[in-house]
Amino acid sequence: MSRRPLLAANWKMFKTVSESKDYIDIFCELIKDVTDRDILIAPSFVCLPEMVSMLQGTNVQVGAQNMYFEEKGAFTGEVSGPMLLDIGVKTVILGHSERRHIFKEDDELINKKIVAALGYGITPIFCIGETLQERENGQTGDVLKRQLHVGLQGVAAVENVIVAYEPVWAIGTGKTATLEQIEDAHVLVRKEIAQLAGEDIAQSVRILYGGSVKPANVKDIMTLEDVDGALVGGASLEPESFSKIVRFEQN
Ligand code: 13P
Repeated sequence: MSRRPLLAANWKMFKTVSESKDYIDIFCELIKDVTDRDILIAPSFVCLPEMVSMLQGTNVQVGAQNMYFEEKGAFTGEVSGPMLLDIGVKTVILGHSERRHIFKEDDELINKKIVAALGYGITPIFCIGETLQERENGQTGDVLKRQLHVGLQGVAAVENVIVAYEPVWAIGTGKTATLEQIEDAHVLVRKEIAQLAGEDIAQSVRILYGGSVKPANVKDIMTLEDVDGALVGGASLEPESFSKIVRFEQN
């Protein structure tokens, strides 16, 4: 089964609207001939409408970094699925480790968000990953299994989910997991998805790696059988660097 690679940029809380416009002008030119893989940028909420309009008709998609599960209501500061759909955003990052650890989101909340997103026809990029302590305690497998099982509870259409394995200790630290650690985790994730949804669906689900991905390591990471793309933070903030990642170009 061949899975189409996805290179996704998570801009986190970086870039104003004007900075994002400058980026897009340069970036689109650099990658306009790329047709054999998906490219996505997830900017902050305030940049979304402008980005959607700028990127219309290009080979770059736009995603959000978060979404609340309720449709509407008194939830100050939150953004709903229908709000995203209304401006043309059809992908959302959910369960990012910064949401889990800084904003105390737990597996149950992330599950509600995943179920809600899918209900609206929005594709979740569902992030999972162990902390350094969990890895050192030999708990990586158990943690990933728990995050997957709880996160995907009640999800009928697992084939519409994209999973991102992001070891917390490799995010923003410059420490990339070794190729062996990445492949082991991705194999485990695919096995768990097979248990939950069957082998065919497990073979079709894309599993991205995230954690200090940069031009220097993307090519090797993308050679791994079970890695179907990357979710990139720091190295996606410069158009030249992210365009190299999109092309799996080392330098
Ligand atoms: P870095 O690429 O900066 O390590 O961030 C990874 C990440 O969190 C992407 O969601």
